[in-house]
Amino acid sequence: MPKVNSYQDISQIDRESKKDFIDRHSPFIHVADSAKAGEVLAVNVKMGNEYVHPDELDHYIQSIKLFNGESLLAEASFLPGTLGNKAGHAEVVFNIVPLKDLSLVAISYCTKHGLWQSDPQVVKVSE
Ligand SMILES: [Fe+2]
Repeated sequence: MPKVNSYQDISQIDRESKKDFIDRHSPFIHVADSAKAGEVLAVNVKMGNEYVHPDELDHYIQSIKLFNGESLLAEASFLPGTLGNKAGHAEVVFNIVPLKDLSLVAISYCTKHGLWQSDPQVVKVSE
């Protein structure tokens, strides 16, 4: 079982190489703060904010999973070459239909550096 790394605010970190390492491995959830029950909600998950991750045969982002609390909602898999074998931001949009409030967490897997967990993102869902 790979270690699960949690996101740390990189503005609190001094070393440039450590900021890069954390940021490029962290999934960031981009979603509206509120949604309507029973309607489609687009949840964008993008790897890295400021820094890009390699896309090489032996080192790439293999998956992004989206959880609501402890329940898996959706998952995307990638192969090496998805980003043209150039460093970039792996990214996916999950269109989900919420029925009640969400507490979303994304987890990504790097083939060399393990599992990385996003900060939770709460979505208020109204009738
Ligand atoms: Fe990596």
